[in-house]
Amino acid sequence: MERLKNKVAVITGGNSGIGLGIALEFRNEGAKGAIVGRNAETLASSVAQLGDNFIAINADVTKLTDLESVFKDTAEKFGKIDVIVANAGAGAVGTVATFDEAAFDQAMDLNLKSVYFTVQKALPYMNDGGSIILIGSNAAHRAYANFTLYGAAKAAVIYLAKGFSSDLLDRKIRANVITPGTTDTPAFDKFVPAEQMEAVKKQFADQMPIGRIGQPADIGKTAVFLASDDSSFMLGAELLVDGGMTYLSK
Ligand SMILES: NC(=O)c1ccc[n+]([C@@H]2O[C@H](COP(=O)([O-])OP(=O)(O)OC[C@H]3O[C@@H](n4cnc5c(N)ncnc54)[C@H](OP(=O)(O)O)[C@@H]3O)[C@@H](O)[C@H]2O)c1
Repeated sequence: MERLKNKVAVITGGNSGIGLGIALEFRNEGAKGAIVGRNAETLASSVAQLGDNFIAINADVTKLTDLESVFKDTAEKFGKIDVIVANAGAGAVGTVATFDEAAFDQAMDLNLKSVYFTVQKALPYMNDGGSIILIGSNAAHRAYANFTLYGAAKAAVIYLAKGFSSDLLDRKIRANVITPGTTDTPAFDKFVPAEQMEAVKKQFADQMPIGRIGQPADIGKTAVFLASDDSSFMLGAELLVDGGMTYLSK
């Protein structure tokens, strides 16, 4: 079954982790389109996995001129866009006592401002009736040590799904947000030394009510649902895809 047959999608951060998991599930359901990131090596390896119906675009989502080119180039190649996934983001580690203004701006530029402008710059190239999928985090719901600003940015992203849906009612464009729990992606490499990786992932898995951490495909399959007409009655919604870690105790 190809639930996204001929749909054109743009996935920011589609060259790694959750974004690549989403792109692969989209590809499996018949979609085509573009993945966006900055790392030339992972862009090349990811687009090779995705096959001929996808292109890789090297762009920085915190730069508005880059975003304009992303959507223009995708529309020129594939026609108007049906699905936007604003997934690019990264944890920002620090507390209110340590984060200075530059660190604040950097964290917010990537995790909040880029989401807003990804959607704004996509709109002229989107089909009416399209779907916007944002990626939140369970850190928006629980205060984890050192994740104050990241959690605040993601809480705002969860709000944006409602606001965008309201703003775009006349175009029947729906925006929804997926909130992942701990998911097995290369993001771990930035925080955990290689020799401790296995132990750290096991520790996370042991804390999860469901007994394992998430895989990018778990998020990808949910994104397929939100991109497809199966979710046509959903707008402004948040789907927790978190193995129960946000609201269940273990
Ligand atoms: N993994 C988790 O446990 C988890 C849990 C909750 C939420 N999330 C969220 O899920 C999303 C994906 O995270 P992940 O775990 O899959 O991380 P990841 O494997 O590190 O992937 C992050 C992606 O974002 C892209 N990116 C970062 N900054 C960018 C920029 N300025 N311009 C363009 N692309 C940029 C990266 O590409 P380049 O490096 O090539 O630029 C990469 O493709 C993020 O929004 C994250 O906050 C993750």
